[in-house]
Amino acid sequence: MVSLNNFDTEKFLRNNWQKRPLLIRQGLDNTEAFISFDELAGLACEPEMESRLVSYQQQQWYLRHGPFSKSDFSQLPNSHWTLLVQAVDHVSPAIFELMDSFRFIPNWRLDDIMVSYACKGGGVGPHFDNYDVFLVQTSGQREWQLGPRCDESNPLLDHPDLLLLDNFECQQRFVLNPGDILYIPPRYSHWGIAKDNNCITCSVGFRAPALADIIVEYAEHLGQGLTSQQRFQDQRRQLQDNPGEISHHVIDQLRSLIVKTVDDQNALESWFGKYMTQAKYEHDTDEIIETEQGMTEKLLAGHPVFRDPSTRLAYIAGYEQTQFFCNGLCWQLDSRYVALAKLLGGQTVFSAEDFTEWLGLSHSRKLLIAMFEKGQLYFNGG
Ligand code: SIN
Ligand code: CO
Repeated sequence: MVSLNNFDTEKFLRNNWQKRPLLIRQGLDNTEAFISFDELAGLACEPEMESRLVSYQQQQWYLRHGPFSKSDFSQLPNSHWTLLVQAVDHVSPAIFELMDSFRFIPNWRLDDIMVSYACKGGGVGPHFDNYDVFLVQTSGQREWQLGPRCDESNPLLDHPDLLLLDNFECQQRFVLNPGDILYIPPRYSHWGIAKDNNCITCSVGFRAPALADIIVEYAEHLGQGLTSQQRFQDQRRQLQDNPGEISHHVIDQLRSLIVKTVDDQNALESWFGKYMTQAKYEHDTDEIIETEQGMTEKLLAGHPVFRDPSTRLAYIAGYEQTQFFCNGLCWQLDSRYVALAKLLGGQTVFSAEDFTEWLGLSHSRKLLIAMFEKGQLYFNGG
C-alpha cells in the first residue's frame, strides 16, 4: 500500500475518520506533475465526462454544465471562476494512481476523484457535502475555510442550481500549498478560495449508502426472492370485540415476520456486494475487449495486467464460499479461490505470474475471461 507522508493511518482512523478534519502538510510529493489546466480543460470538452463551471460575478453565483468548447474558456473573466470535472481517475493514469494513497479505506467506500481548476478568487462557495473527502492541493494555493457541522436545517442561499450555505461561519482557515491535503468529514461546512491563477485541487471522494436506499434496495432484493404464496397467516385468530381494530398482536406478528425475513445473512451479503459494486460509469460491454485466446497468450508471454479504473470490485470471504463481486455481479467461488478474490480486490496492477496459476482451474479461468472480455482487466495498449 502506498502511504502518505506525515500521516499515521491508524491514528487518523481513530481520531479523524468521520469525526474531525485533519490537515496533512506535504502528504504527497511532486503533485504538480499530476494534471495541468490544459488536460483538465480538454477533458471538460468531452461529452462523456461530467463537468461544470462555477463563477461568481457581480455578487451572483452562476453554474454551467459541460461539455465545453475551447471558446467557452477563452471568454471567461480573469478571476472568480472554477472548472470541476468528475471521475478524472477513470481517464487519467496519474490521478488513478493518486487513489492508491487512500486505499486504507476499502474499495466499496471509495468513490472517484473530482479535479477542480480555479483562477484567483474562484471556488464553489460555502457548502457541506454528505461524504468524507480528502482535498489534495496539487498546484497553486488555495485557502480553505472550515465551519461547523451542518444539516438540512441550515439555511441555504436562494439559488436554482447550487446548494450554498446562507450563513457560513468560518472557524478555521488553512492555506494549502502543492502536496498539502485537508481531510473533511461529512457535513462539515467548508469553502475553498483560490489564491492564484493556477489552483488545482483533487477531491478524493468516498461513498456511504443512504439508509433510505439501504432499506428500499434491500427490501426490493428480498421481494424478488419471495413468492405470492408467502403471506401473512393467522391460524390462531381469537375472536375480537370490534371489527375495526387492528390489534397489537397483529402488529407483533408483522414485526416478527419482517425481522425473520430481513435477518438473512446470505441475502444481505449478496445484495450488499452487488449493490456497492454497481459501476457509476460503465463501459460499453457489448464489444469484447480481449478474447480468451488473446488473454492466455499474453499471460503466458508475461504481459502485466491492469484493472480498469471504473471497475468496482469487492469480496466477502465465507467459510465454504467466497462471494466475489464485480460491477454489480456476484461470483460464488469455493474456498480454493479466496486468494484470487483477495488478489483481484486488493490490487490494481498485476504481473502475468499473478494469474498464470489460476488459468488451470476452470472456475477462475472463466472469471478471468469474463473480466478481460469486458475490459475490466486489460493489458497495456488494449
Ligand atoms: C473544489 O475543488 O473547489 C470543491 C471541492 C469541495 O469543496 O468539495
Ligand atoms: Co465540498
